[in-house]
Amino acid sequence: MNTFIAIAYIVSAVFFIYGLKMLSKASTAAKGNMVSAVGMGIAVVATLLIQGLEFQWILVGVVIGSVIGAIAAVRVPMTSMPEFVALFNGSGGLASLLVGWSEYHTNFGGYDASAESTLVPLISIFLAILIGGVTFTGSMIAYAKLAERMNSRAIVFSGQQFVNAAILAALLGLGIVFCLWPDSQLAYGAFLAAVVISLGFGVLSTIPIGGADMPVVISLLNSYSGLAACAAGFILGNTVLIVSGSLVGASGIILTQIMCKAMNRSLGNVLFSGFGAASAGGGDEEEGDVKSLSAEDAYFVLEAASSVVFVPGYGMAVAQAQHAVRELGKLLEENGAEVKYAVHPVAGRMPGHMNVLLAEANVPYEQLVEMDDINPIIETVDVCIVIGANDVVNPAARENEKSPIYGMPVINVDLARSAFVLKRSMASGFAGIQNPLFYKENTRMIFGDAKATITALVDQFKGKN
Ligand code: TAP
Repeated sequence: MNTFIAIAYIVSAVFFIYGLKMLSKASTAAKGNMVSAVGMGIAVVATLLIQGLEFQWILVGVVIGSVIGAIAAVRVPMTSMPEFVALFNGSGGLASLLVGWSEYHTNFGGYDASAESTLVPLISIFLAILIGGVTFTGSMIAYAKLAERMNSRAIVFSGQQFVNAAILAALLGLGIVFCLWPDSQLAYGAFLAAVVISLGFGVLSTIPIGGADMPVVISLLNSYSGLAACAAGFILGNTVLIVSGSLVGASGIILTQIMCKAMNRSLGNVLFSGFGAASAGGGDEEEGDVKSLSAEDAYFVLEAASSVVFVPGYGMAVAQAQHAVRELGKLLEENGAEVKYAVHPVAGRMPGHMNVLLAEANVPYEQLVEMDDINPIIETVDVCIVIGANDVVNPAARENEKSPIYGMPVINVDLARSAFVLKRSMASGFAGIQNPLFYKENTRMIFGDAKATITALVDQFKGKN
């Protein structure tokens, strides 16, 4: 039977890895989710078959969890996905903390510090409660900020980093006491203190991060929840938990890195700089003329265009303009233009934000292009329509060494034959800096809500045909 379970665990791990690989492409992502879910099903069934396991409580948990998951999957809107993921991460962290706690409680007094074999479970217990505790409260703060249950501004105070460093040092000390004298009352005190401090540390390390940086933190917390699960796997001696925890830990950290790189910021800058603590100002004042255009005049240019690239950004999400954009895309195609949608990796406010919105509007996958694929051919594009994007199309990232976003890869719409920028005002974006694109010779600003502008363009096409 044990061999059977071991084989089932290997099969489920293969399903997880294969599912993760499929998640890396929009066209296979939905199937990848299913494949991973089947892997999880196999792992759960195999675990229930472990001899001597009393699984009635596990079944109760599976039923309650499945009902909550099914209701949430139907009810939670796509725009609330980041805070929903925060709740998932928090639950994972809490579960690992409780596994560590229960295991220590069961064996309390029964650990022999002189036996080498006890060191691995002791370190695992301590890591599970430490990482699990930080993940739980950190995720709850992330959830509260994103769901606007608390002010999403970065909360910073003087000496904050010193306090955090002191807490880390205290946790290290408690960990050493816990592992060296595990069967003593002192270790029990160290254990309880570590639980409380870890929970507090989760709060303290998340409050200095502004709400708009929260998606990066959620991805990091996701990674932590994987590491906590991995530690719980070592405690329980459960290989599939170790494997799945490592996969979550590794993929979370990779996504965190991708996001930081796409913003040209280090993880340290995201975690400690208090970005967004001050309100976004205008940044460097830009000199020059801004040429604005009406939707009616824009129509005549688009009508003659043979290639059009939409570049969506956060403003498209705010305006909920994705369906109108798709409709305009279809009309342009019917008019003979080649239409593409160029997506920047950090456009919007969460990973895949634009992909989700465009998929919701049924934009065909093959029309989506990544930044690295559109930039080399952008000079051949007749019109780039920038829909509520700002930072991700800011040429200062390429041209101005003094710019705070210098070095961040951007979609080079300023190099296209012409660019239409749809936004309501000259206000800055997330980074709080001016955008020289708005003053370029080949740029036309179309002021107004993005959905209203696109709808006006759609009406022009429909009315004139
Ligand atoms: P932003 O630079 O934030 O610019 C969005 C623009 O949308 C604003 O300038 C705003 O101008 C416009 N807008 C807002 N509502 C609108 C509406 N109803 N109609 C038309 N326009 C509207 O957006 P972006 O270019 O997508 O860049 C994303 C930024 O967020 C980057 O700096 C990125 O680093 C950061 N960030 C991203 C993530 C992820 S994972 N995606 C995570 C954290 C931070 P008006 O007010 O003038 O209309």
